[in-house]
Amino acid sequence: MNILGIESSCDETAAAVYSDAGLKSNIIASQNIHANFGGVVPELASRAHQQTIWLTVKQALEESDMSMDDIDAIAVTRGPGLMGALLVGLSFAKGLSISYNKPLIGVNHIDAHVYANFIEQQPDFPFIGLVVSGGHTQIIYVEEPFKHQILGQTRDDAAGEAFDKIGKILNLPYPAGPHIDKLAQKGDIHFHKFPQALLHDGFEFSFSGLKTSALYYINDIPEEEKEAFLGDHLNDISASVSHAITEVLVRKLGKAIKKTRAQTVILAGGVSANTMLRNKAQEMALKYKVKLHYPRLIYCTDNAAMIAVTGYLKAQREDFDDIRMKPFASLSDITISNKQ
Ligand code: KG4
Ligand code: ZN
Repeated sequence: MNILGIESSCDETAAAVYSDAGLKSNIIASQNIHANFGGVVPELASRAHQQTIWLTVKQALEESDMSMDDIDAIAVTRGPGLMGALLVGLSFAKGLSISYNKPLIGVNHIDAHVYANFIEQQPDFPFIGLVVSGGHTQIIYVEEPFKHQILGQTRDDAAGEAFDKIGKILNLPYPAGPHIDKLAQKGDIHFHKFPQALLHDGFEFSFSGLKTSALYYINDIPEEEKEAFLGDHLNDISASVSHAITEVLVRKLGKAIKKTRAQTVILAGGVSANTMLRNKAQEMALKYKVKLHYPRLIYCTDNAAMIAVTGYLKAQREDFDDIRMKPFASLSDITISNKQ
């Protein structure tokens, strides 16, 4: 079985082929234009997807030494994401499906981040998943493939959003997560104590207080001293911010393990690329004697390999979708979309 995966939910146009023998190709066209704006500009994202999607899919097929005739089904991101951006990928996939008479598989982008762990590994079920991306932060309990329960999620900003917004305050390029990660490796986590919203009543997260605290912290530095202070301590501030974010994530993960007694834990989403998070999760896994999985760095942030592998797992269950399937911008729209 060969599955073509297409991803266009945000600012990466991506295509990949996953087959019985594993991943055959993985092409990602990143949209650098957004860096100038300090965030993703939806209309620019849709235009860039439109321009590159055909070439990206063509390259994914070429690199796999396949043509559309060799493809058994087309998996495509349905949401959540930017509506205009999703429509480009979904419409393109529908066009291919009709032209070549291939079944379609709609993929939930968050599921795909979780199943990115299956591109090169085989985590055991049930498992606890920490899903940390630019738009979502959730702890889920996955009983069996495509059946999960959300234990808790963020009440406001996502973990990746916290990295990006604090990075903006520190004048770092967008997306700031990877920059903060790198700087943090040379800094002191105890330089400044940023708030850790543990919200003791459960598995929910909140990162907006941390963002505000970082803003006040920087604004309180006298203007004439700011440049020199940041020059001397950007590493330390990055380490302290990363410590505050990852501490909350890992503590809640530990709590979820204790509650569910799951033996396997996976990290998913762009923030799962974070070095401090990976290290702390590793320590926690040793402490609780659980198995920890996280994807290789290239499969943590948005890519189509995760869409193709999720499509592959769904195709094995003959879980195909109708040509009329609609995109959904947010998770709260999903039930409505599924019924239409
Ligand atoms: O999963 P993803 O590529 O896109 C969404 O679905 O949102 O996640 C992107 C997020 C951004 O907020 C980015 O700053 C963050 O992941 N990120 C990181 C790292 N690499 C990406 N955050 C912290 N450390 C990293 N190494
Ligand atoms: Zn993503």
